[in-house]
Amino acid sequence: MAKTLTESAGAEQAEPLVHQHAREIQPFGRIAKLPIALDEKTCLSSIELLNQILADSMTLRDLYRKHHWQTAGHTFYQLHLLFDKHFNEQSDLVDAIAERIQLLGGVSIAMAADVAETTMIPRPPRGREEVPVQLSRLLEAHETVLEEVRSAARLTGEAGDYGTNDLLVSQVMRTNELQVWFVAEHLVDVQVVRAERPIVPVE
Ligand SMILES: [Fe+2]
Repeated sequence: MAKTLTESAGAEQAEPLVHQHAREIQPFGRIAKLPIALDEKTCLSSIELLNQILADSMTLRDLYRKHHWQTAGHTFYQLHLLFDKHFNEQSDLVDAIAERIQLLGGVSIAMAADVAETTMIPRPPRGREEVPVQLSRLLEAHETVLEEVRSAARLTGEAGDYGTNDLLVSQVMRTNELQVWFVAEHLVDVQVVRAERPIVPVE
């Protein structure tokens, strides 16, 4: 129902200014330099490396959520919980990487469509997969991230961007390595109830 003059009179300043559109203030790929005593070339190089790692970390994060929902079988509960834990840890890494890009003066990738165009991790099917396939897919994605992180850690260290180097080594690399251990041990084919080669005692 249309408002009458008396209903809105005097409240104009409190009205939200909705449906506003304007040009972006910083295009993707352009740098808005901050006074952090690091030259523009170094910042640009770190931003580019970090955006690739960001896109792949977001994909890995979402792969954990997908598997958290879709896992099946007698290990359902433990994997459901483990995948959720790793999802949350990857979410924290994603935030730290994206904020590092911003403080370097860059623009971080944010939306799913941009992530899909950038990531190096293969797209999984929409449907559900068996546990060994889920685990293998995760390990391959981790290795893609770790390869990029090791390379970027070396390059940022050589360039003198020690803040990025520290983030990559102390947080991204070590979290991914630990997650690989927790996932990979589920793919060791050991007996569950009866030992495969029991030692027969000598009479
Ligand atoms: Fe959940």
